[in-house]
Amino acid sequence: MPMVCLSDFEDYAKQYLPKTTWDFFAAGADECCTREDNILAYKRIRFRPRMLRDMSVIDTKTTLLGTEISFPVGIAPTGFHQLAWPDGEKSTARAAAAMNTCYITSTYSTCAVEEIAAAAPRGFRWFQLYIHRNRALTEQLVQRVEALGFQGLVLTADLPYTGKRRADIHNNFQLPPHMKVKNFEGNFEENICTEYGLPPNFIDPSINWNDIYWLKSLTRLPIIVKGILTKEDADLAVRHGVQGIIVSNHGGRQLDGGPATIDALVEVVDMVQDKMEVYLDGGIRTGSDVLKALALGAKCVFIGRPVLWGLTYKGEEGLREVLQILYDELRLSMALAGCHNVTEIGRHLVQFSKL
Ligand code: FNR
Ligand code: LAC
Repeated sequence: MPMVCLSDFEDYAKQYLPKTTWDFFAAGADECCTREDNILAYKRIRFRPRMLRDMSVIDTKTTLLGTEISFPVGIAPTGFHQLAWPDGEKSTARAAAAMNTCYITSTYSTCAVEEIAAAAPRGFRWFQLYIHRNRALTEQLVQRVEALGFQGLVLTADLPYTGKRRADIHNNFQLPPHMKVKNFEGNFEENICTEYGLPPNFIDPSINWNDIYWLKSLTRLPIIVKGILTKEDADLAVRHGVQGIIVSNHGGRQLDGGPATIDALVEVVDMVQDKMEVYLDGGIRTGSDVLKALALGAKCVFIGRPVLWGLTYKGEEGLREVLQILYDELRLSMALAGCHNVTEIGRHLVQFSKL
């Protein structure tokens, strides 16, 4: 049977992955209210489509901080791709490069950044940073990714501690012994791994806005802050001179009860105006979801779990299929809504349904 939509890949992954891996990918925090709402919130938005506009030519291209990508969907950082496919992040890098989009590589990769860069030397990549308690380790990592040609640093702001994901606790989820958090190989003693296969107390919970200045002192790369949900924090991001924001609730894996990202987007966009680019992740499953996020002001969206489903299905090829389906769906939605290119997508295109 051909794969028609992203939920076909989800069904496949659920059927074929070991249960503990499926549970880890699917996990949300606590009662998973926010994870569910990320998806439901799109259903509360309806289009105001325009007709008879000669839709014979449609252009989905856009730019991320000046770099062109083929369509406004990139790859959100997710950990441990070898859980989905033996080649892990190397496959992800190849698929992203083949589809000409941006791959945000996670700190928690099961391939080293050097291997990932070598797998797709011309790929457009940003690096997602978790700041280690040992700042020297983080400094070295930032220097490595800058030297390897990563073009941006994505600081994840919503994880001073890992959210409480019930299934992972029930399952005592651990990385299998043959997989490693490769970017830190050699830096940790063996057998001290407790949380998600990582050494306990990996992440520095004291990080705060002043650390943006510290990061800027380490690198010339643009800084994008991931995990912003309010206008107050968007304002602080502007004041601290970062180059972009990803409106994100970590796929509902951190604070349960926070807003759906599509609902938080508008206040962030209104605060930021055109002072920086605003992106979004969380719950994007169809091309029309992408169109709604763009209509409400996101410059680009990123997908998390669907990447893992695509990798599970067929590695690089499976992820390419996932991206191709979203590309085709977005193109079709734009055509049916009367948008020739991304500059024609605006708030006029949507209404909030009373359902
Ligand atoms: C994540 N996410 C995440 N974020 C991050 O900044 N660093 C990371 O290492 C990870 N790891 C990770 C693993 C898994 C299994 C998931 C599901 C998510 C969060 C991710 O970047 C993104 O915010 C969400 O996944 C987006 O929601 P969707 O697309 O999964 O609904
Ligand atoms: C997670 C961490 C790894 O969400 O970001 O699982």
